[in-house]
Amino acid sequence: MLSSKHPLRHDQSEAAMSRDMLAFDAEHAQALRQIWFLGDVHGEFRHLARALLDAPQKPRWIVFLGDIDIDHKPFGEILEPLRRNFAHTKVAFIHGNHDADTYEHWQMLHDCGDAVALHGQVVDLDGVKVAGLGGNFMGRIWSPPAQATFQSKDKAMNRGPYQWRDGQRPNPSLHAAIYPSDIDRLSKLRADILVTHEAPSCHPYGFEALDQLARAMQVVRSFHGHQHDDRSQAYALLRDQLGFDARAVDYCGIKNGLGEIIYKGSENNWGWSEPQLTLQEVLGSDSP
Ligand SMILES: [Fe+2]
Repeated sequence: MLSSKHPLRHDQSEAAMSRDMLAFDAEHAQALRQIWFLGDVHGEFRHLARALLDAPQKPRWIVFLGDIDIDHKPFGEILEPLRRNFAHTKVAFIHGNHDADTYEHWQMLHDCGDAVALHGQVVDLDGVKVAGLGGNFMGRIWSPPAQATFQSKDKAMNRGPYQWRDGQRPNPSLHAAIYPSDIDRLSKLRADILVTHEAPSCHPYGFEALDQLARAMQVVRSFHGHQHDDRSQAYALLRDQLGFDARAVDYCGIKNGLGEIIYKGSENNWGWSEPQLTLQEVLGSDSP
């Protein structure tokens, strides 16, 4: 949603944006081809296994864009067959809103072995600096441009004078909310790519606060999940106004760091008719 009240235009010239992006892609092409960004999987890993088996060049990094959505088994265990079959492929992730549907979801995701939780930090993935902002904007916490009710997760979880009583726990969804403190911290850092679960403003349900974050961090490109659709072609028309190259990855889609489609996802969110398979069932258990 493009707001005339908050114009997207900024002091970076259109020519500068294109040149920067092309130069960045040329300089880091090999590394970018070997970083895969995964749209919301919601417990489905079969397409990842198939894409890995089919890929002539295996990725060095797999980055989940949130809504991994598991509550039955630790993420580290789920990834074990991947580790056995593709020892040189590492995993990073941000959380989505559904990764905090219950406390079990949150715990299972973060029991992740050596996978890297990108939320709130910048990590160097083979020479490409990738920043992560997981979670979603929640009306009762912060839905920019409205004022935030709570500045940080710590404050929301402890609620000042309104403490939780009698063994109550805060609603688990508070774990996945985006807080102003998350954005403040990241905006002081610099990165090449920003991954978010929520979309920037070029999506009809996106947020200009994420445009501002991407520009503050001077990223060349962003990837988001959450919306389960891929409007990247429409985003490209706004690239110069945004000041960065925004990309969407749809439900169970996979793109590499250049934005090229590795696996075409689906906008039909719940269209899988086959039962979900684990990585192990696709990759087999007789691997080295
Ligand atoms: Fe989702």
